[in-house]
Amino acid sequence: MARRKKLYEGKAKILYEGPEPGTLVQYFKDDATAYNAEKKDVIDGKGVLNNRLSEYFMNGLNGIGVPTHFIKRINMREQLIRTVEIIPLEVVVRNIAAGSMSQRLGIAEGTSLPRPIIEFYYKDDALGDPLVTEEHIIAFGWASQQDLDDMVALALRVNDFLSGVMMAVGIKLVDFKIEIGRMWDGDYQRLIVADEISPDSCRLWDVETGQKLDKDVFRRDLGNLADAYTEVARRLGVLPSNVTHAVKPHVIN
Ligand code: TMP
Repeated sequence: MARRKKLYEGKAKILYEGPEPGTLVQYFKDDATAYNAEKKDVIDGKGVLNNRLSEYFMNGLNGIGVPTHFIKRINMREQLIRTVEIIPLEVVVRNIAAGSMSQRLGIAEGTSLPRPIIEFYYKDDALGDPLVTEEHIIAFGWASQQDLDDMVALALRVNDFLSGVMMAVGIKLVDFKIEIGRMWDGDYQRLIVADEISPDSCRLWDVETGQKLDKDVFRRDLGNLADAYTEVARRLGVLPSNVTHAVKPHVIN
């Protein structure tokens, strides 16, 4: 496919103009960042794995009637998606305490939560994506009360789906982040799941051993990130056939 116009480059992905109006091409890079890009590296094969894994999860969601931006995978690193207006919020769902919630509230990592907890973070790199409340979201016009209700419903459906899919392969879904976009149909809008769902945006722990199979491996220097993501892909049966080339071990200089 001829190289299309680049519209946006983020930390882990690039968006290009799509072949038809209302579509974009989403390209998955190998770049890994953490702590608001203070920690950076290139992990050979990460983009290929996340492209496959996001395809798998988004296809599954589309299949059970949870709308997503995903149309089809184009090649190893690119997928065709629908253009949406991204709501400037990261929607985090937590089943088990970990990460920033454990730090903020002093709850030991690994503590099961009595019910899924949903949090919203305002997407602003300069501010470090601060935690915000529904009051902030409505007062500052980032989303309406109706949007919030729809976002919570979407997030819980994604949680149920992902938790089940992961549990079936011996992995606990500790928490995850999604982004949600508006799709316009005349005057009507629909909220759909956008961005990506991958081990970059989830916490995944092996049920038996507690081994981390997500981006915490990179954040906390726990080993080889591509190996962890490959294990998730292998268990789900979504390993690309030439993955041995794609995820050759990353050599640290
Ligand atoms: P946290 O514990 O650091 O707040 O992260 C909660 C979940 O959200 C975890 O699965 C990682 C994911 N996440 C992202 O995907 N992007 C981000 O920028 C942050 C802060 C978290």
